[in-house]
Amino acid sequence: MHRVMLATVVLAVIPSLAQAQFDVGGHPLVGGPTHQPESTFVPPGTGPALGTDRITQDQIVNEELSEKEIRKAGMRMFSTPFNRFDGYGDGPVNVFDPTSPGGRPTLQDNGTFLRINGLDSQTCMECHSVGSNATVPFTFAVGGAGGSNNNAMFGPTEIDVDDSDGFGYAFYNGRYINPPFLFGAGGVELAAKEMTADLQEFVLVAQQNPGQVIPLVTKGVDFGEIVYTLLGGLDTSAVEGVDEDLVVRPFGRKGDNHSIRQFDLGALPFHLGMQPVETVGEGVDGDGDGVVNEALIGELSALHVFAVTMIKPRVTKGHPPQVAAGRQLFEDLGCAGCHVPELETESNMLGLAFPEVQTDPSANIFMEVNLKHSARFKKNNQGGVTVPLFSDLKRHDMGPELAESFGDALDAQFITARLWGIADTAPYLHDGRALTLTEAIQMHGGEGQAASDAFGALSPDQVVDLLAFLDTLKTPKNPNKELL
Ligand code: HEC
Ligand code: HEC
Repeated sequence: MHRVMLATVVLAVIPSLAQAQFDVGGHPLVGGPTHQPESTFVPPGTGPALGTDRITQDQIVNEELSEKEIRKAGMRMFSTPFNRFDGYGDGPVNVFDPTSPGGRPTLQDNGTFLRINGLDSQTCMECHSVGSNATVPFTFAVGGAGGSNNNAMFGPTEIDVDDSDGFGYAFYNGRYINPPFLFGAGGVELAAKEMTADLQEFVLVAQQNPGQVIPLVTKGVDFGEIVYTLLGGLDTSAVEGVDEDLVVRPFGRKGDNHSIRQFDLGALPFHLGMQPVETVGEGVDGDGDGVVNEALIGELSALHVFAVTMIKPRVTKGHPPQVAAGRQLFEDLGCAGCHVPELETESNMLGLAFPEVQTDPSANIFMEVNLKHSARFKKNNQGGVTVPLFSDLKRHDMGPELAESFGDALDAQFITARLWGIADTAPYLHDGRALTLTEAIQMHGGEGQAASDAFGALSPDQVVDLLAFLDTLKTPKNPNKELL
């Protein structure tokens, strides 16, 4: 009875969908590119949420816009809930042609969300919005971190939530990963790019000195060594914590993206089904949803500028005697070996490039951002800035308990989490399994096992000291307030 009624309702609705532009999974949907009337008022939902005034790369390159205007455009890209007129979502799945564009099945064929493996939100900000989780209710910030409900679920092929195999746990073989904040991203990117430049330089040194072992130490971080032989070429078998191409990739908890731009190029199609022009080409409908030019080159640049100008996290005084004792313990326990308190850069200018050349951060720069200004990094005495991130930007094996279950060589490896802002960003660790700082430290295995054992041997007072120190590492107050 119920079914019959539903069928009648659906039939009655279909004629009113006569304007449907395309068809997803058999369901006609209202949306897609339609002719926009030239009237001044555009009723909500009848045109792109982003509007038609879009930022282009020419405007940026020709300096027609101020940095603040570019940042604002970037924030708009980051926080606009896109709809189908903007190119949100993928086109229909063609089961007969797996090479056809688009092609992500959606939940119950609803044509809009999948949640697992992307198509999980309408805007970047849905997941990046927690300024501080230490307040109740939490403080909002564009570009902030996310709670566990905002975890991204990437690439599973098998999920068994009700433990039908009887192992005693829910099985999931994909990546389950908690969103970090973007505060201070410019300093991270600059430090990483300078490290990459150094490492690439070492390759040249190795090639000029066959047979000589070249240590890969940059900014005090040791990435192992290389040796070049005339017969065997470059031997990278003793390289540690970085990919063999010696490009430092600070973004993503696995350390797999060299720049914010590169990360964003994946985030747009993954989360929102928005295809960047620089990936699919101008005027090309990469996902077969009837919309072209979903994210312009200038819009990716604006997103990049928005993130790298975000103010860095701050440090509060806390309870000075305990904080000082805790800071000392942080060294003594070996935490600082991976969570390197500061990386010093040689320049205070971060160059943004298009197109980017990963092995050559100095190529194709179209704009420079001064990290002392908007991002408020402090200058150092070598002409650069101090990046107080508490990370070596290196990957470490964190042991079997924390390992993912992709079945790949990097399952147990994670880039050292940056601890700046940590007082405000629970939950912790890559998947948010640790609800408190104490748990996060206790869960360090593998290369971090000795440090967590040493933590376990502390007296209760010493534990309080260490936590008092970590509690001084706060997120910025009112980030982006000059843009809002
Ligand atoms: C469903 C939640 C979700 C949405 C929506 C989302 N993100 Fe993220 N974001 C994450 C997670 C989870 C990570 C960590 C990913 C990883 O470690 O590989 C992340 C990481 C990032 C990073 C790297 C940060 C770092 O320090 O490593 C950037 C940049 C970023 N996101 C930008 C974006 C942009 C731009 C959008 C919108 C196009 C977006 N995100 C939408 C969850 C989300
Ligand atoms: C061998 C390198 C290493 C050592 C030593 C180490 N850590 Fe970590 N730490 C990591 C890595 C890698 C992660 C990220 C793990 C993950 O994402 O699952 C991490 C994560 C954390 C986190 C959670 C951060 C977040 O945002 O989720 C905290 C807190 C932390 N470490 C504190 C410490 C303290 C305190 C010590 C010393 C007792 C310490 N770590 C020693 C590598 C290390």
